[in-house]
Amino acid sequence: MLTFTTVATKGGVGKTTLTANLGGLLADLGYRVLLIDADVQPSLTRYFKLAYKAPNGLTAMVMSGSLTTDCISYAEFPPQEFEGDHTSLNVQGGFLHIVCSDTQREDSPLQIWLSNQLDRLVRIRMVLSNPELRAAYDVCIIDTQGAVGHLQDAAVNAADVLLAPVAPDVLSAREFVDGTIKLVNRHEAAANLGYKVPAIQCIINRTENTVDSRTMSQLIRDQFIEMRGRVNVLSTQIPQAVAYKKGATSQVPAHWIDPVKVGDSMHSLLWELIPNLVGTFAPNHRAELSPALAALHVQPQEPEGPSTASESEQQ
Ligand SMILES: Nc1ncnc2c1ncn2[C@@H]1O[C@H](COP(=O)(O)OP(=O)(O)OP(=O)(O)O)[C@@H](O)[C@H]1O
Ligand SMILES: [Mg+2]
Repeated sequence: MLTFTTVATKGGVGKTTLTANLGGLLADLGYRVLLIDADVQPSLTRYFKLAYKAPNGLTAMVMSGSLTTDCISYAEFPPQEFEGDHTSLNVQGGFLHIVCSDTQREDSPLQIWLSNQLDRLVRIRMVLSNPELRAAYDVCIIDTQGAVGHLQDAAVNAADVLLAPVAPDVLSAREFVDGTIKLVNRHEAAANLGYKVPAIQCIINRTENTVDSRTMSQLIRDQFIEMRGRVNVLSTQIPQAVAYKKGATSQVPAHWIDPVKVGDSMHSLLWELIPNLVGTFAPNHRAELSPALAALHVQPQEPEGPSTASESEQQ
């Protein structure tokens, strides 16, 4: 099982959108996906229509140190009212399970409880290290709040890969560079105690076809040259598209709303994050990327199940 955690110290940059849409695309490709909403504002919890709402969620999972069935909600996938073509969706049996956020406020019992736990940094990693859980899911994606805290630390520490969306504007870029350096430094301090600092993959999100957007995207890439080895800016950029809002409103992944533009960029993003998925398409996709996006990727290979670039490099 591969674990991604979305992070950004700035709010509203697309963490939840990215989590829901990557999760939706993976489930559509037939993978077994576990989403964990580790944000005190439960946006991911509300993103998908639930077929089953479990009585418990994040609080019980973190406090007990294990993921039991009373904490696992199921997304209705695809939702019954979806007006698109049901027959071509989700034909391969993937699913989305969700650990819902129930922390509500910054001073929730979970945050207070965590602040007193000496092992708070490894609480979520501990949950996800359970062999049965790892066999039950292919990919886990954890959504976090845009603020530093014990919950964010635990979610970061549980990740194999950190996904960090950034908007191509000056304030976001500055905040991102400062925030990311602080985050990396804090976790590197913990690395001295034997913890692994996950690789950070930066995704430029909401690009527009303007000179300003292109200039800022380039600036973000240039800034990160200094941080090479710690932060990688992905080649795939996610354009601004109305389908993301429409998807959230209809409680479906955005590539179902716009299989061409959004479908292309989400596939491209997924392939860059998990190279052995290159060449695999969601059932309702048109089965080819635009030439520009296709050029970013090597020739299609036979999929062998998810594993990331960083994992394959380690082997
Ligand atoms: N590529 C995109 N194109 C258009 N709209 C987008 C895109 N990415 C995100 N959005 C929109 O931006 C808004 C904020 O996104 P989202 O909620 O995912 O951010 P967040 O980082 O999770 O925010 P928070 O810090 O509040 O948790 C949402 O309305 C979402 O639909
Ligand atoms: Mg969010």
